[in-house]
Amino acid sequence: MSEQLRAALADELADVRGREIGPAVRRLIASYRSGEMPIAPILDSPEAVTAYAAYRMPATYAAVSRVLSQLGQLEPRTMLDLGGGTGAAAWAATAAFPSLQTVTVTDQSTHALDFGQRLAGTSTVLAAARFQPLALGPATTVEPADLITMAYLLGELDPPTQERLIGQVAVAARIAVVVEPGTPAGYRRVLAARDALIKAGMRVLAPCPHSSGCPLAGGRDWCHFAARLDRSTLHRQAKDAELRHEDEKFSYVVATRGGAEEVVAARDSMLEPVTGRVLRHPVTRKGLVTMTVCTRTDGVVQTPVAKSRPLYRAARNARWGSPWPPTQPPP
Ligand SMILES: C[S@@+](CC[C@H](N)C(=O)[O-])C[C@H]1O[C@@H](n2cnc3c(N)ncnc32)[C@H](O)[C@@H]1O
Repeated sequence: MSEQLRAALADELADVRGREIGPAVRRLIASYRSGEMPIAPILDSPEAVTAYAAYRMPATYAAVSRVLSQLGQLEPRTMLDLGGGTGAAAWAATAAFPSLQTVTVTDQSTHALDFGQRLAGTSTVLAAARFQPLALGPATTVEPADLITMAYLLGELDPPTQERLIGQVAVAARIAVVVEPGTPAGYRRVLAARDALIKAGMRVLAPCPHSSGCPLAGGRDWCHFAARLDRSTLHRQAKDAELRHEDEKFSYVVATRGGAEEVVAARDSMLEPVTGRVLRHPVTRKGLVTMTVCTRTDGVVQTPVAKSRPLYRAARNARWGSPWPPTQPPP
């Protein structure tokens, strides 16, 4: 987490005790683990938002940061964060894209927006961000922006609203980013969003090396990645957890279409996704690294690299989620 966000959160949560927010944290955990679409807003009180900020925001920030940090060359100037809650994606985006000039965070929860606005007020780059109430539904029109993010949002919308929203975003965004929990259900929502974005004329930039069908679709496996984050003392107390870190699993897709400005459109259309993407922790045994790689043309393939091969050192350094081969510039 950026030092500025860590400090802002610590300050905002300074008077909160883990035991006090324990019940609210447990309610959030139960809602998110159920995998069911909520029948009522989850962040419906300042207490729920405090619990969210303490136990979920660092994790969603870590996942969105991991996604956006590989896309620096996209240089968006405007950002719209839908279902942005307390602003995790806005913090991640301003760290990844110094090019951002205006940031708008929208959400149905005014409690979350109020909290997010207070946090953002401590940041030199986010102080001018707008936090606007917006309940997404069948009649929503999405305003245009270079970068539109939807982080951990789709699972809280019914399927027709998800579909309509993605259709709107495909028209309104130069770069569309969807991040969901790294569960089979989260992956399926990302896959449906990916299909819809492609159908609407966008190209996939990450994580996939191509915009063709996902080779994992319909199988028992699902595409997901992990971002490690430190747990604060409050986080550990609230969750009754001892480990000082956790791995946030997430699924995602980034798609682009080029923008209204010809020069940006031309440059974006030349950006290529990676040649391949490592889908699991590489396995190293006796001078042999074996990676599971999603490739541009051959689906998911086991890729062994022996010690005698020139790329062995690169294979030793490859991680779950890395591009492969590594010489390819990241998307
Ligand atoms: C799991 S939180 C994610 C928040 C934030 N994007 C993040 O990554 O930390 C889901 C957010 O979606 C918002 N949300 C859910 N349904 C919504 C709707 N119909 N319209 C607007 N916001 C909605 C919730 O209020 C909540 O802030």
